[in-house]
Amino acid sequence: MLYRPRRNRKSAAIRAMVEETQVHTRNLIYPLFVIDGKNLQVEVASMPGQYRRSPDLLLKEIEECLKLGITTFDLFPAFPDEKKDKEASLSYNPENFYLQAISRVKKELPEACLMSDVALDPYNSDGHDGLVRGGKILNDETLEVLAKMAVAQAEAGIDIIGPSDMMDGRVEYLRNALDARGFTDVSIMSYTAKYASAFYNPFRDALDSAPREGEGIPTNKKTYQMNPANSREALLEADLDAAEGADFLMVKPALAYLDIIKLLKDNYNLPIAAYNVSGEYAMVKAAAERGWLNGEAIMLETLLSIKRAGADIILTYFAKEFAKLQANR
Ligand code: PBG
Repeated sequence: MLYRPRRNRKSAAIRAMVEETQVHTRNLIYPLFVIDGKNLQVEVASMPGQYRRSPDLLLKEIEECLKLGITTFDLFPAFPDEKKDKEASLSYNPENFYLQAISRVKKELPEACLMSDVALDPYNSDGHDGLVRGGKILNDETLEVLAKMAVAQAEAGIDIIGPSDMMDGRVEYLRNALDARGFTDVSIMSYTAKYASAFYNPFRDALDSAPREGEGIPTNKKTYQMNPANSREALLEADLDAAEGADFLMVKPALAYLDIIKLLKDNYNLPIAAYNVSGEYAMVKAAAERGWLNGEAIMLETLLSIKRAGADIILTYFAKEFAKLQANR
């Protein structure tokens, strides 16, 4: 036998030498949920180990994570329903605790790289990423609100904005709005191929941001998020985002869409990010809790597969667990 591929697997030393893919803590972005108040930390029921934290505890958490080598944090606010309105006007009100939390973290921990979410759903009483009128999600009217939100976040000191709304034309609209106010250094990580997925439910629990039940409110996000059946459409979205000035292209969710990650990696020269979403996290935690799977091994294999598929950056709720494991090796 001339070829014995097993020879390259015969010892830990050789396996390590020929290993093609490594995940590093510096590749990860850690999503964190923020609530108003002081000294508050509430676990998200469907995401064991993930919390909604008040800004003071958020600061502590970020400080700890920085020490573990995590550099970048994606912050998501949870607002009480009574603060929300149909126009999502809270999203650009400088008094809102989320914008204040961004400023505070940037002031006290300037080395932390902060990313935000640009979409209406945490602020909107209809629970949609865009403005809802007459049973429809308005595109162009939504852009104006997104731009005000992005500028407010830039004023608060955000490093990267993450438009997750899937409105057409938003990357260019946001780029222009930011540049016009001098925020030429604020980056855009576009949710390029964001699918209408059932994997987001635990996240919507965390933020109370699911589409509301009510007359004239669509029950799902299928008129703006992509059909999971489509991959060529991801190329179309990526063409637009690249032309409109995105700095990073993101695929979301990650695991059921590894082919899309690879597709974008092979066709674009921009860095590719993948969002290992809440449902992917919840599945691993639930099975591990029952002793059905080894949670740590599944985490490592999952992150590796996303990186191998072509993601340069992975947004994952496992970031801290992974970083701790690396630090203790
Ligand atoms: C909101 C947004 C969602 C996620 C990130 N930003 C949910 C949605 O589109 O309904 C999902 C993240 C996750 O599931 O971890 N625009």
